[in-house]
Amino acid sequence: MTVYLIVGLPGAGKTTRAKELELSESALRLTPDDWQQAVFHGDGPTGWRARERADQRDRIEGKLVELGMRAAQLGLDVVFDFGFWGRDERSALRWIAASLGVRAQVVYLPVEDDEQRRRVTGRWSADAAQFRFSDAELTQWRAQFEAPDQAELSGGPVPPVPAGYATWRQWASERWPSLPQR
Ligand SMILES: Nc1ncnc2c1ncn2[C@@H]1O[C@H](COP(=O)(O)OP(=O)(O)OP(=O)(O)O)[C@@H](O)[C@H]1O
Ligand SMILES: [Mg+2]
Repeated sequence: MTVYLIVGLPGAGKTTRAKELELSESALRLTPDDWQQAVFHGDGPTGWRARERADQRDRIEGKLVELGMRAAQLGLDVVFDFGFWGRDERSALRWIAASLGVRAQVVYLPVEDDEQRRRVTGRWSADAAQFRFSDAELTQWRAQFEAPDQAELSGGPVPPVPAGYATWRQWASERWPSLPQR
């Protein structure tokens, strides 16, 4: 079985690709944006800024990781449509997948700045419920984003877990507090 880790900035085309894989691989697609918009449906396009949302978002993602990894163990391909801006996030899920005997494939969708702004604006015009963010946020997020390197893209060895953690699983349970330690 394969879990696909979809990596990219807002508007990179992650959900578009995730839906393609959902069809072509008969995969289970897990898109936290859908869950957040469904659970916090009163939020509107800017409510994601509410003080408690970041923590709630992490908790949604943690349960989706738990669910997706279980589904992969049970024989489904799974698409994690998360974005995974951080290398450590990708390392942690690659490590967890390997520990369960599941293949992990990093799928990176780069997007140029101009094209990203065009797409994000286009999407708002098409669907007013989509999360809204500013030009300044797009710039800041691009600076934070850690693009995957060749080793990650080709399924190379997972780097050692950061100091202070016994395993990547333990690191992941801190990053996503709703994800069980085992
Ligand atoms: N390869 C592509 N070429 C041109 N337009 C694209 C491409 N992929 C996606 N788009 C368009 O860009 C917009 C954003 O795509 P999509 O929703 O898949 O991005 P996303 O990475 O999931 O964004 P977000 O992080 O905000 O969820 C949509 O309008 C989509 O139709
Ligand atoms: Mg998306």
